[in-house]
Amino acid sequence: MCGIVGYNGKNKAIDILLDGLSKLEYRGYDSAGVAVQEKDIKIYKAKGKIINLEEKLKNKKLNGTCGIGHTRWATHGEPSETNAHPHVSNDQSVTLVHNGIIENYQELIKKLQKHGYIFYSQTDTEVLANLIDYYYKKYKNGPSDAINRTMVRVRGSYAIAVMFKNHPDEIWVARKDSPMIIGKGKDGVYLASDVPAILKYTNNVYYIDNLESACLKKDEIIFYDLNGDTIEKELKVIDWDITSAEKEGYEHFMIKEIHEQPEVIKKTISSYINDGSIDFTKCNLTKDILKNVEQIYIVACGSAYHVGVCASYVIEDLARVPVRVDVASEFRYKNPLLKENDLVIIISQSGETADSLAALREAKNRGIKTLAIVNVVGSSIAREADYVLYTLAGPEIAVATTKAFSTQLIVSYLLAIELACAKKQIDKEVYSDLLKEMQSLPEKVNNILNDDLKGIQKIASELSSAQDAFYIGRGLDYAISLEGSLKLKEISYIHSEAYAAGELKHGTISLIEDNTLVIGVVTQEAVYEKTLSNLTEVKARGGYILTISPDNIDVSKVSNYKISIPKTNKFFYPSLTVIPLQLLGYYIAVSRGVDVDKPRNLAKSVTVE
Ligand code: F6R
Repeated sequence: MCGIVGYNGKNKAIDILLDGLSKLEYRGYDSAGVAVQEKDIKIYKAKGKIINLEEKLKNKKLNGTCGIGHTRWATHGEPSETNAHPHVSNDQSVTLVHNGIIENYQELIKKLQKHGYIFYSQTDTEVLANLIDYYYKKYKNGPSDAINRTMVRVRGSYAIAVMFKNHPDEIWVARKDSPMIIGKGKDGVYLASDVPAILKYTNNVYYIDNLESACLKKDEIIFYDLNGDTIEKELKVIDWDITSAEKEGYEHFMIKEIHEQPEVIKKTISSYINDGSIDFTKCNLTKDILKNVEQIYIVACGSAYHVGVCASYVIEDLARVPVRVDVASEFRYKNPLLKENDLVIIISQSGETADSLAALREAKNRGIKTLAIVNVVGSSIAREADYVLYTLAGPEIAVATTKAFSTQLIVSYLLAIELACAKKQIDKEVYSDLLKEMQSLPEKVNNILNDDLKGIQKIASELSSAQDAFYIGRGLDYAISLEGSLKLKEISYIHSEAYAAGELKHGTISLIEDNTLVIGVVTQEAVYEKTLSNLTEVKARGGYILTISPDNIDVSKVSNYKISIPKTNKFFYPSLTVIPLQLLGYYIAVSRGVDVDKPRNLAKSVTVE
């Protein structure tokens, strides 16, 4: 999705803007642009990669120390230089960048056309520049008033950064439902859609809330509410390390992040275990609250939804609490059946996914308790949920999630165990056995990463010409198959699907022909024989079978190729099986020459519906 950066301080703005934009590339974009305050505001835009913009800027001497920048992910209007941001008002009094969608832009364009405004782009953003200009000139009450009137008039989501011709060396910002943070460093103030863009300069940030605005001066930030009154904000510290947002010698962020998993899993476990017990006091989630939960709804998108599916198996089995899992875009519109003692859990790495945020609000509006499992501190979902359990994955840059997924799994296990304890479904011995086994996961993940890379690389290059792939398993093996299949298709562009192994016979088996790739995840002892029968059926029809299983399960008869994983408790297998599944997706994509960190059409954080 679109990314915004801004800088106002002592140094040359253009270098900081371009550096920030390159850090936001992972969000997905198709054009980029900057505006820098020189004598006048200078604007440069280019279609395609940031390198095209840099090319345009090559011989330009931009020494200004105040500016804004943007990466655009097209929603309204094709990717083009004209549609790229910044956009300007008719007489260039207002220059603006925007992330989000203005839903009533057609109606506003008509209104402004009646006042003589003309429009040059196909975007919904251009209307914002002209509407701010209109109110600025009509009421003559300055930028804050013009922005506030605009916020009242528009429908949709936005994070905007605005420069006014008549207010040089100031950047004005405002937001509703789209992410934005403001950083304060020793050499100036910074603005970004996401932490990695400014982490190099500062980790002291302000969060700006919905329908608030701010004026960023060189050494001062003034915040306003919708009435135009100033408000005080607390400076927060982000304890992410800058190196975690750099590649550090790895070819791609994705493989770097895969290798970070032992460490971030360990960090996440340790942050919630105190003296041999789970401790959620940081987030005020007491055993008493958990004891009264009668039903759980887990709501999320994409991979985070797959964590929800895994969590549903573990929670129902361990804590005997019914769990429903929904994709957020469905939940929000289906009039969900929620009851007083339900708990709605939202899982999200970014904490900004539009549908997940809307689902959270839907639950809150109905008076239902909400718990967020989130990675980005201070994100909208984290700020709005009643309780927050943070994952400690650090910044995740690759579009395809890996380490955030793994830490979300860990938090789900912890929650399941604590819930089971609160509900008196497990005794002390089972409780401490589970915690002990969970604490061994980082080492087991590490072993998979160290042992099997060559083998997986080899099989990946053999399989890279596959047209289709089917992932099958039962129970938690099915849940993790969903993730394995997504990992493959999103970065390698190979068609893949995941099925509950028992479902195969109800239609899909007709697609199996000679050498169709079928990946069988076989870890669950109670059902492994049944999965083996399903794999045998596939093999009899010519399928090429890759199995992922611990050595105590004999898969030799069905496997063309086997990946071994260490043994663990049945609930924790997804944390181990996901590693070869991620590696397989990664290496197949690499052998197909795909830009693994930025797969086509995808955005890291989906902040529009
Ligand atoms: C896939 C992937 C996506 C995200 C989904 C939700 O690899 O990363 O499917 O899981 O877009 O994003 P968050 O977790 O930020 O809400």
